[in-house]
Amino acid sequence: MRIFSGIQPTGNLHIGNYLGAIKQWLDLQHENDCIFCIVDLHAITTSYDKELFRKEILDQAASYLAAGLDPEKVIIFVQSRVKEHTELCWILNTITPLGELYRMTQYKEKSEKYKNSESAGILNYPLLMAADILLYDTEIVPVGEDQRQHIELTREIVRRFNSKYGEVFVSPKEKLPSKGARIMSLSDPKKKMSKSDGKESYISLFDSPEEIKKKTKAAVTDTGKTIKYNPSRKPGISNLLTIYSLLANKRIEEVEKEMKGKSYKALKEETGDLIVKELHPFRKKRRELLSREVYVEEVLKRGEEKAATLAESKMGEVKKKMGLW
Ligand code: AMP
Ligand code: TRP
Repeated sequence: MRIFSGIQPTGNLHIGNYLGAIKQWLDLQHENDCIFCIVDLHAITTSYDKELFRKEILDQAASYLAAGLDPEKVIIFVQSRVKEHTELCWILNTITPLGELYRMTQYKEKSEKYKNSESAGILNYPLLMAADILLYDTEIVPVGEDQRQHIELTREIVRRFNSKYGEVFVSPKEKLPSKGARIMSLSDPKKKMSKSDGKESYISLFDSPEEIKKKTKAAVTDTGKTIKYNPSRKPGISNLLTIYSLLANKRIEEVEKEMKGKSYKALKEETGDLIVKELHPFRKKRRELLSREVYVEEVLKRGEEKAATLAESKMGEVKKKMGLW
């Protein structure tokens, strides 16, 4: 199966990205044809630091590798290096009704934040994402729950394009993790964990053990005493149980049983300890990779060449079907 996914190179990856997306990538890479992209063109739709950007992209590539993606098996590349992404994005613009873009939850959330001074890029963001996916005949897109609507839109685009111009695109399906598709903020467990919020609200894959313990200790929990999974009534405790169960590869009920009779404080400490333990190899490997910049650049270069070959061929097909010169 052809798999495609991407993450923006903005700041550190957090455990939400890991449990929601990357952990699935690691499982999928063995048996499938995988492409993982660093979506820098998506990242520039919000403010970013142009002096730091190159370093952040390299850092993201090092993080992908440190998390365990095998560059011998998968393609890792930077979106803006393959020009067909923007080219196809324009074409998709011409067949997508504006109403469908205005309807997107992520657009609504972001435009609220910008108070109607948002760029057209924020609105057209899902079309660039659809182009990413469609250029490679992607069948499966492993992402967190928040991206589901964008994949649904991509299927709509496939339907519309194929019926207008003839069969060119493959219809993709999202693959969400079984649970924990949404890891919540540590400081406000009713909100999704996000790197655009304060540092105390998320745990980066590369935080030090001290930072991790401090953040989990300070995690906002709920009233009451019993450790029970109930996201609507006990969002804080449920979030910790989810993180614990995903990292330990145990079912929530099993974790509940283990924690029975223990205090909230104990749950926080044990979750902190488990996160420290599970993330230790990532930290070590990333440190090593960051000192091997040339190697990481080489991985990206190789990925780019492979991706470009596939993308050029697909774009040729698209233009031909559309009667473009
Ligand atoms: P982003 O950081 O928004 O670019 O998201 C990158 C990937 O991580 C996407 O597949 C998201 O669905 C996933 N993701 C981001 N935040 C979370 C979260 N709090 N819980 C689960 N998955 C997430
Ligand atoms: N839009 C995704 C996000 O915000 C990132 C992304 C861009 C992506 N292109 C993609 C994810 C293609 C999957 C497939 O998280």
